Amino acid sequence: MPAPIITGWGKCLPSAVLSNADLETLTDTSDEWIVTRTGIRERRISHAEVSDMAAVAGREALAAAGVAADQVDLLIVATCTPDRLVPSAAALAQEKIGAAGCGAMDLNAACSGFLYGLAAADQMVRTGAMRRVLLIGAEKLHFFLDFTDRATSVLFGDGAGAVLIEASEEDEAGLLAFELGADGTAADILCIPGSGTEGDPGASRRTRVQMEGPTVFRRAVEAMGDASLRVLEKAGLGLADVDLLIPHQANLRIVEATARRLGLDPARVAVNLDAYGNTSAASIPIALVEALEQGRVQPGAVLVFAAFGGGLTWAAAAYRWGSRVTSRGSAGAALPPSTASSLELLAPNVALYGKGV
Ligand SMILES: CC(C)(COP(=O)(O)OP(=O)(O)OC[C@H]1O[C@@H](n2cnc3c(N)ncnc32)[C@H](O)[C@@H]1OP(=O)(O)O)[C@@H](O)C(=O)NCCC(=O)NCCS
Repeated sequence: MPAPIITGWGKCLPSAVLSNADLETLTDTSDEWIVTRTGIRERRISHAEVSDMAAVAGREALAAAGVAADQVDLLIVATCTPDRLVPSAAALAQEKIGAAGCGAMDLNAACSGFLYGLAAADQMVRTGAMRRVLLIGAEKLHFFLDFTDRATSVLFGDGAGAVLIEASEEDEAGLLAFELGADGTAADILCIPGSGTEGDPGASRRTRVQMEGPTVFRRAVEAMGDASLRVLEKAGLGLADVDLLIPHQANLRIVEATARRLGLDPARVAVNLDAYGNTSAASIPIALVEALEQGRVQPGAVLVFAAFGGGLTWAAAAYRWGSRVTSRGSAGAALPPSTASSLELLAPNVALYGKGV
């Protein structure tokens, strides 16, 4: 049986930075409140589309693996903010990556999307149906932010992260266990109403992120902690075996509470939400790429991934890293240059909803 492993990884962070001080000019908040309650200091605002960010991250993942774009069998973009409903962000990114002819589809499990994609990609390669799946998490969440709502607008950011999953001979490595879950009865506690076909065509739409923050917080800690424990049990591992927890980067207090529930000290937890906020399906792959860049992933390391998001969805995975932790190369891929500031890029949001100050 082919053992699917991650052989390439890449990320894309747009250049425009939105700091907490910038947010103070848009909504009734403060740097002190945001840092204390969330741990977030800044986030990125994209001047480009989701498929552009996906293509940059995807090209870097291919270069890191030393694989040509035309060798990809399937391209999955995990996103809840695609450029368009049709065609998929994956189809648009495929053209930008130059992966002509491969399968291409989007996957929406909100912030859990990357782990849903990891499970799907792994199973497709494991059966032998595919040899190489390029899995990308990419989001442009700022599109849906209303700065009169300070409880949501300070949390999210844009970006993309990608991995290439390939059949290998490393039969000890790869996905050891995974769990995917959802609770559709809690759909309304974290949602973007009016973003699809509900209601009448042409009805006026206010397609902004809406959230019951404290309820989401509680459910996130429970679901990520419990799902992590279950995947470890399925994998026949204990908490002492975990080298690094890479959780969805929603809020530092959620990450810390999840780590406490698992009894993991901060040295075994990847955190980069201070720099990027919550980038939804992109957050885990971006954190994984940075952990690799920082030398925090050693050959054979046991990683636990855990995520939670709108749906409600949750997911966790236990993963044993392969023998190679360094990149084979870089594509030098980048978004088209832009001089627009984050506040300039947010002007349409302010024009639509107004400011919260
Ligand atoms: C949103 C969240 C940061 C709010 O933090 P909290 O500690 O739960 O705060 P509360 O919602 O209870 O609000 C406490 C107070 O802070 C205020 N507040 C909320 N956002 C604020 C902001 N950005 N700046 C200043 N004050 C703010 C509230 O209005 C409230 O004021 P009040 O007491 O006068 O009514 C927190 O609930 C959270 O992170 N939830 C999960 C969100 C998430 O991760 N979603 C994505 C999941 S994928």
